[in-house]
Amino acid sequence: MQPARLLAALAPGTPVSGASLAAQAGVTRAAIWKQIETLRARGLPIEARGATGYRLPWPVQMLDATQISEALPAEVGDSLGALEVHWELDSTSSELQRRGAGAADCSIVLAETQTAGRGRRGRQWLSPPGLNLYLSFLKRFEQGFAALSGLSLAIGVIVLRALEALGVQGAGLKWPNDLLAIEHGRPGGKLAGILVELSGEYQGPCAAIIGVGLNLRMTPALRLQAGQPTSDLAALTAGVPPDRNRVAAALITALMDGLEQFERDGLPAFMADYRRHDLLRGQSLQLSGALGEFAGMGAGVDASGALLVLLTDGSLHRVDSADVSVRPT
Ligand code: BTN
Repeated sequence: MQPARLLAALAPGTPVSGASLAAQAGVTRAAIWKQIETLRARGLPIEARGATGYRLPWPVQMLDATQISEALPAEVGDSLGALEVHWELDSTSSELQRRGAGAADCSIVLAETQTAGRGRRGRQWLSPPGLNLYLSFLKRFEQGFAALSGLSLAIGVIVLRALEALGVQGAGLKWPNDLLAIEHGRPGGKLAGILVELSGEYQGPCAAIIGVGLNLRMTPALRLQAGQPTSDLAALTAGVPPDRNRVAAALITALMDGLEQFERDGLPAFMADYRRHDLLRGQSLQLSGALGEFAGMGAGVDASGALLVLLTDGSLHRVDSADVSVRPT
């Protein structure tokens, strides 16, 4: 049985016996057990309950391009270049990169799982099947790189708007564009990561591949593997995150609307929302960048999207690129 079919059989969250899975697939129970182990190794917490069989601790909605399309407003659906859902890719962003000039503007690729999910600064992005969302969006711009400074911050605001549209509260932004859960009024675990990759010309046509990884359910084992504090939509929705296809549709809608707004009005159109959701302002920060390690107090962002940090000598330092962490109080 293919892993996608096996996950689909377990998706309702009700127990399914190894014998019935084996009969459906025309294979032995040992072969099913091997596939279950493969899905477990990928991060799915499949339980085994004696004779009743295998089950997932909660229902999972399989990603489905038709269901996602049906949940899109008509004008958004009509403007998409492509909408593809794959079971497995190395990386949805790498897939769009490979398409190059052949990919239409506003093409979207999603995968149930990624074997080489990429994060910022060369980090890995954990991508277990069935639990989270991995989506990449190709957007072409006429204006060239020069006009795209600040795009990365705007995308953070756009993803936050998608969560708000789904009725999910309790998330904020960590510069440049991580979405964090707010825990006890402070920046908490990472909910979503964004990777923006640009190609093309400095003053001519260029393209942005925008990769979004959004956690819906992180298991304890995955949290350990992540190597940094993580959170998920389940934590913000009393354990019942919205349907994954609805989340995908809300993300796509917010990206279509927001990128059009960015193209027309630039970063200023996003600044008020950014400032409202800025989790680093007033926090004690530790930064590491080209200038080495330093500490200071978050003091917002400037009009170009740079992070402002108040140093102990009272001066304001502008940061274009750095790794930032919030110091525990
Ligand atoms: C980060 O480091 O915070 C950015 C993570 C971005 C992950 C997403 S998942 C979809 C897309 N495909 C990838 O390989 N990476 C991005």
